[in-house]
Amino acid sequence: MTGSEDHDRRGRPGGQGRQGRPGGHGEDDARWMARALAEGRRGIGRTAPNPPVGAVVVKDGVELGSGWHRRAGEPHAEREAMAAAAAAHGAAALAGATVYVTLEPCSTVGRTPACTAGLIEAGVARVVYALRDPNPAHAGAADRVLGAAGIEVAGGVLADEAAALIRPFAKVQLRGLPWVILKSAMSLDGRLTRPPGEGMWLTGPEARAEVQRLRGECDAILTSGETVRNDRPRLDLRDFQYLDGRDQPWRVILTDRPGSLPADAPLLSDGHRERTLVRGRDPEAVLRELAAERGVCCALLECGGRLAGTFMDAGLVDEVVLFLAPRITGGAVAAVGGEGFAEGLELEDPRFARFGPDVMLRARVGDCGEGKPRMNADERG
Ligand SMILES: NC(=O)c1ccc[n+]([C@@H]2O[C@H](COP(=O)([O-])OP(=O)(O)OC[C@H]3O[C@@H](n4cnc5c(N)ncnc54)[C@H](OP(=O)(O)O)[C@@H]3O)[C@@H](O)[C@H]2O)c1
Repeated sequence: MTGSEDHDRRGRPGGQGRQGRPGGHGEDDARWMARALAEGRRGIGRTAPNPPVGAVVVKDGVELGSGWHRRAGEPHAEREAMAAAAAAHGAAALAGATVYVTLEPCSTVGRTPACTAGLIEAGVARVVYALRDPNPAHAGAADRVLGAAGIEVAGGVLADEAAALIRPFAKVQLRGLPWVILKSAMSLDGRLTRPPGEGMWLTGPEARAEVQRLRGECDAILTSGETVRNDRPRLDLRDFQYLDGRDQPWRVILTDRPGSLPADAPLLSDGHRERTLVRGRDPEAVLRELAAERGVCCALLECGGRLAGTFMDAGLVDEVVLFLAPRITGGAVAAVGGEGFAEGLELEDPRFARFGPDVMLRARVGDCGEGKPRMNADERG
């Protein structure tokens, strides 16, 4: 389904439960779905291998309850929201209510019972969801199950926003690969390091606090043997607000020479060293393993330019978060190694923010996952 496509309870395009018609639900649907999305965002970085999802229960223009999926194995968002509504107003209040949920309710029994069954049992009158299940095997199934029970169903409300919320989950579902964010801090001359003998940090404490928040979005952090040998980073979550309700992210060292890693490096010796994995040099194989065996949906790449270039060359980077420090270092390590991209690599939807003296650029890599040919010898000037 495209971001703006609508469908009615029988899955026909254009149904949309009267959305947008005079006297219809349109504006209210968008307003309540925005509330559900805000709930869903609370789950970012906590729900893998499941997606973050939010929901609200509304009746007669009043919010009865809200909820979000907190962790895999725990109740889904619509069940959380219905439980909150029932706790506040009594279970009978759910009869005739509308449930807004950011993702099509599940109709199969997994670790938790099917949400469609819970919605039917509660007696709700209407279900509005933002985005169809990205798994083609399940997409649209809720429309049929709920429709057969006489519940009005509308889909496609704020679908683009909902798609952005579950991008990492959708990538795993569709391609078996996690969403990869390359994070680098660099000087204005595009260098990742300062000259030997100077301090290690390029950016200030405000930017580093934002990196903590960013790590909180991710299920794994990838780095290189070289960076572990040189910098001995911790690559963990240190702020309780991001760690609360989740595990430390997996820390994955890509190296051909495990024996060269210092045994006293934090990744190999600290209190959560059991969350560190040492793997070989094939980035795609490592990513596929993380998705399939560790449930990783979103991976953060924090390394030097050589490994970053390898991921870029292979088309494995979906998004970049670049911190630009107001200094020129002439350091040895360029932000992205390799020979360069023919015609440059397009970044989409760039957003800038300032953290203390530093500027952050966050943008998606165009042609996500398709890769882009490096310049060959003839093209280089
Ligand atoms: N400013 C920042 O944001 C930032 C972030 C991280 C690091 N850094 C700096 O970057 C410096 C290192 O940069 P770098 O460019 O020399 O190294 P790098 O890109 O961090 O790492 C290169 C190493 O990655 C490993 N590797 C695994 N698979 C690979 C593959 N497919 N292709 C290439 N390498 C692969 C190899 O480790 P083995 O040799 O062990 O096999 C290789 O030596 C560090 O000293 C650190 O200070 C800066």
